[in-house]
Amino acid sequence: MQQTTLFSLDSLLSSDAAARSQGQMDRGGVGVETRISIDVGQPDPASMPMDDLIAAAGRVLSTDRTALLYGDRQGYAPLRKLVAHKALRLESLEVRPDDVLITNGSGQAIAMTAQALVDRGDWILMDEASWGVRVFKGFGTNVFSVRWDGDGPIIADVKAGVAAARDHGKRIKMFYTIPNFQNPLGITAGVERRKAVLDLAIEHGFLILEDDAYVELRFEGSHIPSYYQLDESRSQVLRAGTFSKIFGAGIRLGWTMSSPELLSALTHYKLDGGTSPFSSRILTEYMRGHMFEHIDELIDVYRDKRDVMIGGLQKGLGSRASWSQPEGGFFVWVSLPEGASAENVCAACARRGVSVWNGAQFRWDGRDDSHIRLSYSFATLDEIEEGVTVLCEEILRSAAQSDFVAGVGSR
Ligand SMILES: Cc1ncc(COP(=O)(O)O)c(C=O)c1O
Repeated sequence: MQQTTLFSLDSLLSSDAAARSQGQMDRGGVGVETRISIDVGQPDPASMPMDDLIAAAGRVLSTDRTALLYGDRQGYAPLRKLVAHKALRLESLEVRPDDVLITNGSGQAIAMTAQALVDRGDWILMDEASWGVRVFKGFGTNVFSVRWDGDGPIIADVKAGVAAARDHGKRIKMFYTIPNFQNPLGITAGVERRKAVLDLAIEHGFLILEDDAYVELRFEGSHIPSYYQLDESRSQVLRAGTFSKIFGAGIRLGWTMSSPELLSALTHYKLDGGTSPFSSRILTEYMRGHMFEHIDELIDVYRDKRDVMIGGLQKGLGSRASWSQPEGGFFVWVSLPEGASAENVCAACARRGVSVWNGAQFRWDGRDDSHIRLSYSFATLDEIEEGVTVLCEEILRSAAQSDFVAGVGSR
């Protein structure tokens, strides 16, 4: 018997899921195979320590059956200890392993913080362009975008956000910010700016959600204390970090550090049987002996890649456009010349098999046709060189077309 069905997924989706299904990042150029990806923040595959990892996995599997049991909600204790040890060695930051919660990548930590703190209609601050747009879409949040200059978040904008929320009878609940080698802006917030933001957070009672996914990958210049480190109370900041960038994203391990009260609020959302006890043990086994040496190797790899990308932009565009000069991390933010369209440039690159990302995807309101985000992390040096050559050609073509149209118009 033929049944008519009333089933329609659209009508069943929660408003959260419906909002998330819009505005997903996409590469454009459908139907054309991507030859060169200078878009995504994937780690460098050639640097993955496969042999040492196989050995580490062998040791875990031959000695530790708990790897295949459910795990501790807060995460594998030796891995929490390793995160604390890394913070001490690389940042002179003292953290107790008990102040660390292991998560399925830092993305999970950030999403859980949003779940634990943000109700529909709540106000938050976010960097003017941010990787986090994708996380907060769907929470029904009012986002006030804080512009950045070369030194970090503009303080007047933070104050304006506080005032705007107040005008709506609300308060700012948190400032989600990426202080180091910001994704996508490629800039780092200076220490004085961090202190000023923290002062405002204390004065107005909002949390700083510090997304420090790239802190370990500094190629030059000196380390800048994190918001978490600057906050003497250790309760105003929740800091998220990840092994995705210093090891491999597929291991799906990250962490968050904060006060016991905040971590406990988050832990209620960890219904996953403990973040992968299996990968936690393998990672710990490998990292114990190799972590700092591996991070040093990665810094050299990514610095070379950054240099090739920046060199290619300089060669292809000269003074026709500008771009950030990241001191670390994965990303370069290109500001296009007058008249060039990011949407057209991305589509033209995609038709030539080169994938780059339109800056609009990082704006909360989705409006921006004059920036492109590049990543040098995944492609090889040769691919970066070729991809950037194609990109520069398409940027100049797009700008020339608009000059031509303007010329015709003015005749
Ligand atoms: C700024 C930033 N935060 C968080 C993440 C999430 O990383 P993961 O969930 O793999 O730790 C990324 C990934 O690209 C990122 O760029």
